[in-house]
Amino acid sequence: MTRGPIAVALDAPDLSTMTAWAVAVGPHVSTLKVGLESYLRDGDAAVIAARTASAETTGLPCQLFLDLKLHDIHATVAGAARSVARLAPDFLTVHASGGADMVAAAVRELPQTRIVAVTVLTSLTPGDLVRMGLLPPGADANDVRSLAERLAIESVAAGARAVVCSPEEVAGIRAALRDQLPDLAGDTVLITPGVRPAGAELADQRRVATPVEALNRGADLLVIGRPITEAADPAAAAAAIVQEIADDRGR
Ligand code: C5P
Repeated sequence: MTRGPIAVALDAPDLSTMTAWAVAVGPHVSTLKVGLESYLRDGDAAVIAARTASAETTGLPCQLFLDLKLHDIHATVAGAARSVARLAPDFLTVHASGGADMVAAAVRELPQTRIVAVTVLTSLTPGDLVRMGLLPPGADANDVRSLAERLAIESVAAGARAVVCSPEEVAGIRAALRDQLPDLAGDTVLITPGVRPAGAELADQRRVATPVEALNRGADLLVIGRPITEAADPAAAAAAIVQEIADDRGR
């Protein structure tokens, strides 16, 4: 069975639901994402359960993506990174808007982990960013793109080895990295949430694409949560997306 380039967001209401999802989807996907909802409630047990559950069916655990979206002064982020070092996550997220020094602090503490810089949340529209004063009045999707590109470049130059962006920004970020940081571009994993199979509910996501579109625009890893975890059969939903990706690649 091939594991698809998908990180399933295990945003579960309790540990046993999270574990059941990990058992169901583990054989189909490369990565399991434990985020704030599970980690703040269940702590290390959530990470250990995700790893163990995904190894049960195939013998090989999925990659572990710890999505804590750290955003604080450098010393605090460094301390937070040290606090999760024992879990040896494959990925750990920080907000790019915390600045290059904050990103570098996390990188220094966890040299074996891919520090992931989150650029602009996929739930935000250009209008939201204007209202918050982060973009000038009249700003549109192009301005969001250039903001995301600047945040990505800053973070990768500071040592981040992965970037989270919307499917709308992924091609621009890939091009900007190749242009401005050619030595680092090849080893930078571009991760896109805001992925919805055709016809799926958008929920709170705004800047979205289908899995195949996101990969064709240059994403390396897709974060998908509710379209899989809220399906009647999460294993079948994950398998169907992986099959759709394989069919497109075989074309
Ligand atoms: O597919 P779904 O919308 O359920 O996925 C939501 C997951 O993606 C959540 O775990 C959320 O934290 C994560 N995420 C996001 N937007 C970002 C970064 C991460 O939606 N910019």
